[in-house]
Amino acid sequence: MYKGILHTHYLVVVLFLLIYVIKTVLLLSDKKELLIAFTKKVKVPEMIISFLFLGTGIFLLTQLALGGKFDYLLWIKLGMVLISIPIAVVGFKKQNKMLAALSLLLITGSFGLAEVYHKKKGIIENVYMTDNSGKSLYEANCKLCHGDDGKLGASGAKDLTATVLELEGVKEVILKGRASMAAVNVNEEQANAIAVYVMSDLKGH
Ligand code: HEC
Repeated sequence: MYKGILHTHYLVVVLFLLIYVIKTVLLLSDKKELLIAFTKKVKVPEMIISFLFLGTGIFLLTQLALGGKFDYLLWIKLGMVLISIPIAVVGFKKQNKMLAALSLLLITGSFGLAEVYHKKKGIIENVYMTDNSGKSLYEANCKLCHGDDGKLGASGAKDLTATVLELEGVKEVILKGRASMAAVNVNEEQANAIAVYVMSDLKGH
């Protein structure tokens, strides 16, 4: 479900931005009649999109907060979105080009900023796993090197079915990394679920 909402959020943000860009371009190029006609045409879809934008956004923020991943970048992002809305309202109402352009810049920036950063760190993907079961977390974060059955050993990874580590040790490797294995971006609870999966399902076999 998280993944579905995350994808819905991306989709509505893109649609939202598209409408916004068109409006701003029309305003900046003094196509006032067109702007009024366009604004009228997209009024209802825009309302639905804005509603979905906010709804999915709030849901995702609560998920990030619950996952302990609510960092300063998200505050900046949230701040930029919240500031850009009144600026956009005033900008388009008064047909002020500067304000309209500024709000577009803010909202585009807020979209890009945190996304790029979090994508890089894998935070978004990990928090929004389809479910938080050890198996799906393992498949998303470990399979690449350790394989479905834990035996793959790609890029020097160890055979997990043969590990002498206990649960806590596995958890520590996940959270802190070891030698050539980098720490995996999951929270403590998720690390625990993965470690339990490794110990019981992979090693148990
Ligand atoms: C990019 C590849 C890569 C990914 C992804 C990866 N590992 Fe590893 N893993 C390694 C490598 C390489 C080692 C060997 C590190 C060393 O030399 O100590 C290792 C070692 C381990 C060990 C120590 C095994 C032992 O007996 O010493 C555990 C446990 C482990 N990984 C679990 C995981 C889990 C669980 C995940 C997913 C959350 C994961 N790894 C993701 C590459 C990876």
